[in-house]
Amino acid sequence: MSLTDKVAFITGAAHGQGRATALALAKEGVHIAAFDIGRPLSYPGYALGSVEDLHSLQSEVQQTGVKCLVFQGDIRIDSDIKTAVYETISQFGRIDILFNNAGICAYGLVHELPEEEWDAMIDINLKGAWLAARHIIPVMIAQKSGNIVNNSSIAGLRGMNRLSHYAASKWGLVGLTKSWAIELAPHNIRVNSIHPTGVNTPMNDGLAALEGKTPREIAEASAGNLLPVPWIEPEDVAHAVLYLVSDKARFVTGSQFVLDAGLLTR
Ligand SMILES: NC(=O)c1ccc[n+]([C@@H]2O[C@H](COP(=O)([O-])OP(=O)(O)OC[C@H]3O[C@@H](n4cnc5c(N)ncnc54)[C@H](O)[C@@H]3O)[C@@H](O)[C@H]2O)c1
Repeated sequence: MSLTDKVAFITGAAHGQGRATALALAKEGVHIAAFDIGRPLSYPGYALGSVEDLHSLQSEVQQTGVKCLVFQGDIRIDSDIKTAVYETISQFGRIDILFNNAGICAYGLVHELPEEEWDAMIDINLKGAWLAARHIIPVMIAQKSGNIVNNSSIAGLRGMNRLSHYAASKWGLVGLTKSWAIELAPHNIRVNSIHPTGVNTPMNDGLAALEGKTPREIAEASAGNLLPVPWIEPEDVAHAVLYLVSDKARFVTGSQFVLDAGLLTR
């Protein structure tokens, strides 16, 4: 099935995997609603997407011939996401794809984590996915179709040193994925999660700067891939999302799609 004239709502779209997925979907004829914080936050302490990133994404997407709306908002704030969904429906009339991708990552030993850091991690990476979904699912139910992809991580399938709060948020996304898949199958809505190993994005650059390491060292330390690569590229993730939201995956729901360069084999 062609994706032409479908509409995708993508959170965390200014940077990295969200941006690559927006561009890949646009090339398939999908109109894009791109949502991002668009400003720095004190935690996690590295550069998040900016308003300039959102606007440059908008012009790149429009160059492919589809429409693009951009929204600056915080995924933790219900009114931000509600306004963006409302505006998307009034401009595009539908939402076919939700890519729950906004996220942060930071290190911290379990017994030393400040409560605010725990809360920020869970609120952005886990609660944010629910906030977006709860406004978009009624639209998909009315359309009798839809696709949701939650961007988890290999940290959603294993434990990771100094990343317990990150791992908890990413395991939580697996619970949401499986439960939503059950609830939404009768409405012809599929829900899947993806689990990338280290990805070559600004998140890794930011973590590296905080740790005084190179992005490659960060990727190698946190991953340990079987294939001899330190990381995968954001476009690899975009290809997986494209597959999952296409009719080629019409019977795939509730699944955990692993892009791990073989890491989870051992
Ligand atoms: N980079 C990796 O190695 C890796 C690996 C596996 C999974 N992931 C996950 O992939 C997703 C995308 O990460 P990325 O690698 O593209 O990193 P990234 O930092 O480049 O992109 C994340 C985007 O989310 C946005 N964002 C952060 N907090 C937000 C908030 N409160 N409200 C709205 N937007 C917010 C940022 O501005 C940024 O544009 C994240 O959920 C991340 O946890 C990353």
